[in-house]
Amino acid sequence: MSAETITAPAYVPGTGKRVIPDHVPPELVFEPKYEEPNTLIDPFSVTRNIYDELPPVFYWPRPSPGRYDGAWVVTRYEDIREVYQNEELYSARNAANFQGTVGETFKVLPQSVDAPEHGPYRMMLTPWFTPKAINDLIDSFIDKGECDVAHDFGRIYPVKVFLNLMGFPHERLEDFLSWEYAILADKRDIESIRWGSRHAIDYLRSFIEEVRAKPNDKLASAIVHGKINGRPTTEDEIIGMMFMLFLAGLDTVSATSSLIFRRLALDPKLQQTLRDNPDKMPLAIDEFLRVMPVVNASRAVKKDHEIRGVKIKAGDYILCYTMAGNFDPEEFAEPRTLKLDRSPNRHFSLASGPHLCLGQHLARREMRMGVAEFLRRIPAFKFKPGADMTVYPGQIAARHVPVVWDPTGVVK
Ligand code: HEM
Repeated sequence: MSAETITAPAYVPGTGKRVIPDHVPPELVFEPKYEEPNTLIDPFSVTRNIYDELPPVFYWPRPSPGRYDGAWVVTRYEDIREVYQNEELYSARNAANFQGTVGETFKVLPQSVDAPEHGPYRMMLTPWFTPKAINDLIDSFIDKGECDVAHDFGRIYPVKVFLNLMGFPHERLEDFLSWEYAILADKRDIESIRWGSRHAIDYLRSFIEEVRAKPNDKLASAIVHGKINGRPTTEDEIIGMMFMLFLAGLDTVSATSSLIFRRLALDPKLQQTLRDNPDKMPLAIDEFLRVMPVVNASRAVKKDHEIRGVKIKAGDYILCYTMAGNFDPEEFAEPRTLKLDRSPNRHFSLASGPHLCLGQHLARREMRMGVAEFLRRIPAFKFKPGADMTVYPGQIAARHVPVVWDPTGVVK
């Protein structure tokens, strides 16, 4: 896998214009190809040579519609940690701005604001992140002897948990999935992002009106009727938090789970080890998270400074390249080996610093319970013969992982 230096300048969303800022030296401009689809058991092994092939800090003119025209990328553990944790130099402003593509000006909360504004939103949401039961869903397909584990389980289950948490109607599940997928699936296709964002925001606004009229005991209602710094939440704050949760809560767990199930389906020994040792599950989930990260977060630069001798200017963006930092040998012994009992395991898959994933406990619990319960009740499973094993390293992950097992071996 080689990264090629490109000569064409960056695409500017919506204008068709291509520009690389003057202060970016041409020899530091790269267009990495690590997120291309592949069929490998370890989809992220494509980044194996990243430290030899790319400078530790480089400029990626990749279009990222509605967010930034191009970004510096940091690949080393130490640098990523610094970007996440140093609020003097780096701001979360604009960290997610899909709504900007349809002319909306509200901020995604709490992701896109810095301290001290950030704290009250985080405090308001924190008590809501608790796990829910999963057995009903397993019962719905256990007798069939087969399922598309990425869709029927990895995808539907976290989305149902999310709908329950928020109080959204389950009848809209397919709509939610299609909007979410349109926003996140092809980050280069601005029309699809606009379509998904428009529908999601319009729906969320109508739902806000419903719960405004009829309060209930769910999170969406708590946001609509909630208080920030002692005053009622504003319209922009309400939609900002709802849209944030919609973006964060639907696809991340699904993408990670489908990667975990895909890997288990391809590795019977690993499957059996975990089936025989359910106590390994908590550490194992974090190790899966480390080796199969689905999110790279970005930050806006507040002041001119240098990283490893590279001049970075205020207003530039920096991408924390998780799929490199999580394999830094300075932090992780034998970083390319999946060690089910790795501890400590301070990976960046759920970020770091003040914006550390708020849903981290929920996400971990969902995955621990989901994978453990699936393995406990479903005997050895493998890919359905002839099935497509293509995976997209990143948030799209594996949309389908059709697996088969012997129905006589299931645990009811
Ligand atoms: C495996 C699953 C998940 C992954 C990989 C993940 C990843 C991340 C990452 C990398 C960030 C930091 C973004 C940034 O700093 O710009 C983040 C923040 C956040 N996540 Fe997650 N997330 C997951 C699950 C969830 C779930 C299930 C929820 C809620 C239902 C959630 C809610 C949030 C929220 C609200 C934030 C913003 C926190 C803040 O700004 O203070 N996440 N997540």
